[in-house]
Amino acid sequence: YMTLSRICCIGAGYVGGPTCTIIADKCPDVTVTVTDLSQDRINQWNSDDLPIYEPGLDEIVRRRRNKNLFFSTDVKKAVIEAELIFICVNTPTKNYGLGKGRAADLKYVEAAARMIAEVANQSKIVVEKSTVPVKAAESISNILKANQRRGVQYQVLSNPEFLAEGTAVNDLLNPDRVLIGGEQTKEGREAVESLCWIYSHWVPRENIITMNTWSSELSKLAANAFLAQRISSINAMSAICEMTGADVTEVAHAVGTDTRIGNKFLKASVGFGGSCFQKDVLNMVYLCECLNLPEVAAYWQQVININEYQKRRFANRIIESLFNTVTNKKLAVFGFSFKKDTGDTRESAAIYVCKYLTDEGANLRIYDPKVTDKKIFSELTNPLMCEDPERVKELVTTYPDPYEAANGTHALVICTEWDQFTTLDYSRIYQKMLKPAFIFDGRLILDHEALMKIGFQVVTIGKKLQRSNVHRSFSTSSQS
Ligand code: NAI
Repeated sequence: YMTLSRICCIGAGYVGGPTCTIIADKCPDVTVTVTDLSQDRINQWNSDDLPIYEPGLDEIVRRRRNKNLFFSTDVKKAVIEAELIFICVNTPTKNYGLGKGRAADLKYVEAAARMIAEVANQSKIVVEKSTVPVKAAESISNILKANQRRGVQYQVLSNPEFLAEGTAVNDLLNPDRVLIGGEQTKEGREAVESLCWIYSHWVPRENIITMNTWSSELSKLAANAFLAQRISSINAMSAICEMTGADVTEVAHAVGTDTRIGNKFLKASVGFGGSCFQKDVLNMVYLCECLNLPEVAAYWQQVININEYQKRRFANRIIESLFNTVTNKKLAVFGFSFKKDTGDTRESAAIYVCKYLTDEGANLRIYDPKVTDKKIFSELTNPLMCEDPERVKELVTTYPDPYEAANGTHALVICTEWDQFTTLDYSRIYQKMLKPAFIFDGRLILDHEALMKIGFQVVTIGKKLQRSNVHRSFSTSSQS
């Protein structure tokens, strides 16, 4: 192994922050500097209030910070000093120009590469950790080599990150595998070995997979496409269940016990969200189109289409169940993050459900244990989504307490599977709601039988039973 003493990371976000924190903790002899252009973000990393919520992360940051873990906006200094540089900048879907709405926007990756070339005065290993289209490492390498100073050599590696938000610390500590792609040359293999050395401080060697750069880049897109595909597959089943009386939870159980299929990622819901699945699948769709593989592109595009259908379908069921109108009705929305145990709202299904409901004139009372009001409003008034921000501000209120949020509402809509939603006192909530009181469980997390006993009309995903119960109780209540 070639050992390293200084590394740095460009981009102090959901990936760069936690990844480098774990590296610093596991490699006490390596100095790790995490950099970002955003002074705000760096200040937060240096404070007691970290910019991201991730269970278990605070403690480790506190343990290593200012020992061998540093957060700084001086990107250039950190790059000059480091032997190895992780690029962990964002690669969002392009919202302009060529490939708009599908291609990954590589402008931040390119800016990082150009900055490295500008300041580096000794050889560097540059590690692409951001999720990128296949062949991005080659572009980075071209940029570096076209601008390289005399005597400076670059090796570009692909080391995609597989952590999931909400479980990042555990995922980083116990990864299923670490993937490293590099050039199949002597220098390439040496660079791969250096990065292996870092991970081998805590990851068993057999779990570190090395391969060529293109395979590594494509593997990340493939993994996310497969994961998203499973969710869309079970969500497609949920639509069949609702029409037939089959129960999607039972179907998922039966299907998932087949060891060839496995039981993970088979939970029907209002749809997947997060910054990665949609972006990465679209990235692959665009790649296929560019490679003149329209059938393959169409296949993966359908994963996205089903997800949009699912979000729309859930909102439609809410509206239909509430007697085809939600105009001026009060609805409590529980959960706004894209999944539990994170404050991240990027592409959260809740955004879309809230949009569809406010488009119908519903009054929303939103509660989330970790998402700030500011974030909720910035998502709901995002100009790409929202035509009339003033109207949204009139219709939406946020609450710091779920009981307060539910007070006086017609319905409760569960958008995120936060554990605390399963232990609320629903009898207490029921008493303060307008009748008939509805619960729309978009995550299949509540005890539906118990809720119906309390008196709720329960509507959920992938089950016809509740729906017919709801209708039956409508007719009985109108008779009485
Ligand atoms: P993020 O948006 O949280 O963080 C990116 C950071 O990079 C931002 O703070 C931004 O200010 C900074 N940045 C951009 N350009 C810069 C530059 N030139 N110099 C210094 N800083 C710069 O993004 P996140 O979620 O950490 O994602 C990063 C990459 O990792 C993306 O490609 C994403 O697809 C991938 N990824 C994300 C996962 C996730 O769960 N969020 C999981 C696995 C991969």
